[in-house]
Amino acid sequence: MIIICGTPGTGKTEVANLLKRHGFKVIHLSNLVIREKLYLKYDEERDSYIIDEKKLIDKLIEIEKETSEPLIVEGIGAEIIPNKFVDICFVLICEPKELEKRLKSKGYPYTKIQENLEAERLSLIWGEALDNYGRSKVVVIDTTDLTIDEVVEHIMKEIKKRGLL
Ligand SMILES: Nc1ncnc2c1ncn2[C@@H]1O[C@H](COP(=O)(O)OP(=O)(O)OP(=O)(O)O)[C@@H](O)[C@H]1O
Ligand SMILES: [Mg+2]
Repeated sequence: MIIICGTPGTGKTEVANLLKRHGFKVIHLSNLVIREKLYLKYDEERDSYIIDEKKLIDKLIEIEKETSEPLIVEGIGAEIIPNKFVDICFVLICEPKELEKRLKSKGYPYTKIQENLEAERLSLIWGEALDNYGRSKVVVIDTTDLTIDEVVEHIMKEIKKRGLL
């Protein structure tokens, strides 16, 4: 399983959508969690679902069995998938100034933008990925000055180098 994680606005979804052309099955985590009800409850304060990790893992294993293409899981929270299921984890990062522009263009509310900028300054998701998978499986891509196509190229190079396709 290939993971693409990162703070909102770093480009996970757009990058993953382009990767479909390269023969991957792409799972957008939040869609799957909502569609299959893989959550414990809805957190009103944070306006998000709290993922039921066990249900999620079982579902991902089921999808992996049914699919011939390699699986890419993208989204916030993807970095919680246990190490033993993960071949490589891409962490997309972005400088706060550029990230702010992207989040504004997505129409995120002010407080949500500030919260995400702070998370990015603290490298929270990158830290979580390192904790879970270790340095050898974590590949960080600074997307600040890259186009979406360049990020895709970088990911494909790394996947091929590791014989994952
Ligand atoms: N490398 C890039 N260069 C410039 N703009 C980008 C880049 N990557 C993404 N964007 C733009 O930033 C915005 C956020 O991208 P996207 O929705 O893919 O991020 P995301 O990480 O999936 O965010 P979320 O966690 O909120 O779903 C989009 O408007 C997208 O076009
Ligand atoms: Mg997204």
